[in-house]
Amino acid sequence: MIKAIKVMTVFGTRPEAIKMAPIVQALQRNPAFVPVTVVSAQHREMLDQALQVFNIHPDYDLDIMRAGQSLAQITSRVLLALGDVLTREQPDIVLVHGDTTTTFAACLAAFYQQVPVGHVEAGLRTWAKYNPFPEEMNRQLTDVLADLYFAPTAQSRDNLLLEHHAAAHIFVTGNTAIDALHETVNAQYHHDVLDKIPANQRMILVTMHRRENQGEPMRRTLNAMLDVLRAHSDVNIVYPVHLSPAVQRVAHAVFDGQERVHLIEPLDVVDFHNLAARSYFIMSDSGGVQEEAPSLGKPVLVLRDTTERPEGVAAGTLRLVGTDPDRVRTAMTQLLDDPAVYNQMAGARNPYGDGHATERILAAIQYHFGVTVTRPAEFS
Ligand code: UD1
Ligand code: UDP
Repeated sequence: MIKAIKVMTVFGTRPEAIKMAPIVQALQRNPAFVPVTVVSAQHREMLDQALQVFNIHPDYDLDIMRAGQSLAQITSRVLLALGDVLTREQPDIVLVHGDTTTTFAACLAAFYQQVPVGHVEAGLRTWAKYNPFPEEMNRQLTDVLADLYFAPTAQSRDNLLLEHHAAAHIFVTGNTAIDALHETVNAQYHHDVLDKIPANQRMILVTMHRRENQGEPMRRTLNAMLDVLRAHSDVNIVYPVHLSPAVQRVAHAVFDGQERVHLIEPLDVVDFHNLAARSYFIMSDSGGVQEEAPSLGKPVLVLRDTTERPEGVAAGTLRLVGTDPDRVRTAMTQLLDDPAVYNQMAGARNPYGDGHATERILAAIQYHFGVTVTRPAEFS
């Protein structure tokens, strides 16, 4: 009989938890695998919100978060704490996700113990070292060390091939973000913040947290949003503010006391997906939001100068506006005032997945370990 494959999933922040949750759940259901779930808790509250929604109880919680933590602190704490867990558990493979500092440090910890690594959401690139910072280097370094690559799209596979990673080890799977989305959006959904917005008014959902936007870029972008709000009496902003003190400071300084701006706590993912589904459009510098919005038919003004998700720009859902106030004002005004522009962005097809990424990832792992002989079909 073929031995079950011991798969250790390691994640630590909100987006990793949301996109790893379908994989953790599928591993737990499938007797061909022995799952071990490890969280770094690089995020504490925002991670716990996601764990609760998906009913995931980690086997190990490294509990590393500190207020205002530096990148070196996150890296060193994960590296040390995960080393002990790896020694004890001896997994056949470690799965990491995306581009956070937990992702890279966990991959490095596994490499030091010569444990193979599978990278979920591999191959995303801007090719700009500091943009986004430190994520672009986190994902490139992770891919240098990884053994198996789960690329969400053909374009991310091509990026990996450009770096001479072996084609045999790359699987195009779609993004697990879309798997999660299939479970969360519900037509009956209600949230208290919606009671504050009259039915005939429009809502823009905002998120902004990237390190390179903190401080002045964020201040000028939020002020540009206020200018547009003043010119449109039927428009509201809902902004669930990330718990980073650097983000909280600017969001409250610009928006506190403003009519039609609703600053709220970070939402759990069910709330976020449902509010996104009820928004008129979204403004965000988030990575995950760029993947989800096309499935919901919502335009996104991306508050960044570069994106590792060009498929959404090509499809027409995403528009890169950066943090220049004139560009932000112009893009918002066009979307609010010109139905042709709006309809073109809202009508695009989702290029990021079909809801079956998790199945493909598990099948690829089985194929890699010789449990199955036929290479699994890919997402196209
Ligand atoms: C991290 C990731 C980023 C990802 C983002 C998703 C790195 C370097 N950055 O950025 O790629 O886009 O998560 O949200 O890996 N905090 C809390 N409670 C929480 C979460 C955060 O209090 O639940 C506060 C803490 O003071 C913490 C600070 O936020 O020190 C910053 O958290 P950190 O994980 O370092 O950076 P993020 O900006 O969240
Ligand atoms: N999200 C959430 N609550 C919020 C804001 C976002 O659950 O208040 C979800 C969103 O649907 C997406 C993920 O968090 O799945 C994106 O995470 P984040 O923007 O923190 O990180 P990034 O994707 O930029 O790394």
